[in-house]
Amino acid sequence: MSEFADAGETVVRVARNGDGADRSSQTRPLRGVAVVGLGYWGPNWVRNLYQLRRAERVVACDLDRERCERIRGLFPGVETCARFEDVLEDPDIEGVIIATPVSRHYPMARRVLESGKSVLVEKPLAMSPAEATELVHLAREGGRVLMAGHTFEYSAPVLKIHEVISAGELGEVFYVSSIRANLGLFQHDVNVVWDLATHDISIILMIMGRMPRAVSCHGQSHYRGGVEDVALLALHFARNVIAFIHVSWLDPNKIRRTTIVGSRKMLVYDDTALQEKIRIYDKGVDVHRYYDNFGEFQFSYRYGDIQIPRLEEAEPLKAECEHFADCIHNASTPRTDGLSGLRVVSVLHAANLSLKQGGRKVPVENFLAGAIDERR
Ligand SMILES: NC(=O)c1ccc[n+]([C@@H]2O[C@H](COP(=O)([O-])OP(=O)(O)OC[C@H]3O[C@@H](n4cnc5c(N)ncnc54)[C@H](O)[C@@H]3O)[C@@H](O)[C@H]2O)c1
Repeated sequence: MSEFADAGETVVRVARNGDGADRSSQTRPLRGVAVVGLGYWGPNWVRNLYQLRRAERVVACDLDRERCERIRGLFPGVETCARFEDVLEDPDIEGVIIATPVSRHYPMARRVLESGKSVLVEKPLAMSPAEATELVHLAREGGRVLMAGHTFEYSAPVLKIHEVISAGELGEVFYVSSIRANLGLFQHDVNVVWDLATHDISIILMIMGRMPRAVSCHGQSHYRGGVEDVALLALHFARNVIAFIHVSWLDPNKIRRTTIVGSRKMLVYDDTALQEKIRIYDKGVDVHRYYDNFGEFQFSYRYGDIQIPRLEEAEPLKAECEHFADCIHNASTPRTDGLSGLRVVSVLHAANLSLKQGGRKVPVENFLAGAIDERR
């Protein structure tokens, strides 16, 4: 567990078990793990569980029987069912992965925890801080694992960025600028902020190690009234640090790029690049003061080498899957636990309020305090 102590602002705790992986897990496979929701994303979970063999039984569930049939064809041995209740009532199932539409996350995760099982909920954890807080409490009371599906926090480039920033290589972070755009996939029940910006918010909170004080967000809908398909967020942190996030379902190009500008160096992370996803530029501005002319400065620009760190590439979902199984096995706290899910939802909530109020700067409330204090 590492903690970024920082006076006067909300600090994000990043739960850690050494390198995040728990090797003691290889002893016993879990009796059973279920994946609920076999649409676009759920089958990736089934594939990883099937390949990793961390559970004796893998159960895949979807209301749509055709999706169940497809999974049976792809992964022989994986059991399927159409009723969520069958998963809840199955005594062998120790953990459930919820990959249904976002509006179903909270009610389904709640029922999983109430049935005495652990749960991994796809991003975002819930649709409001109140819902997320309730899940945190339920998991605690029942002594079960609650994990938020913040996939990118398990990816090699994001872990490397976290390492680089924590080591002070970039110096003091001035700003982050992130763009995540593509043509589609429109979600039915949430806007582009809840769908795509969730990824960037989870990445930014992880690498910054603290919460923003306020959020402003502008957006527009072009196809479905009231459901924004393009948006621009600004996360305002203490000490003049700002993070911009541009998300769109309506862009001719697939772009997933994050730039981090520090006082010493600058880093660019391009997740669409096949290789060399991270470049660290020894570029910056040096400020010299004219001592004979008080108050005047001279800027000189530094154009140094570009460094490309080697990354141990692995599918983030595989690492996430292993980690969920480890946490159930060892009754340990996930790196992306319920509080981590609540933090992201708190920022999304503030962004949505801002969006509906013409981009007003909305303070990010500290819902975490309640979630943590009530435990005592
Ligand atoms: N981590 C990532 O990188 C990533 C990527 C894409 C999607 N997601 C997340 O995955 C989730 C699913 O997204 P998607 O694009 O696959 O959605 P989708 O609409 O394609 O699939 C959802 C599936 O859930 C099923 N479903 C709904 N209610 C159900 C119920 N009560 N019982 C059983 N099945 C039910 C639907 O029949 C459908 O097949 C969302 O939370 C999304 O945010 C995460």
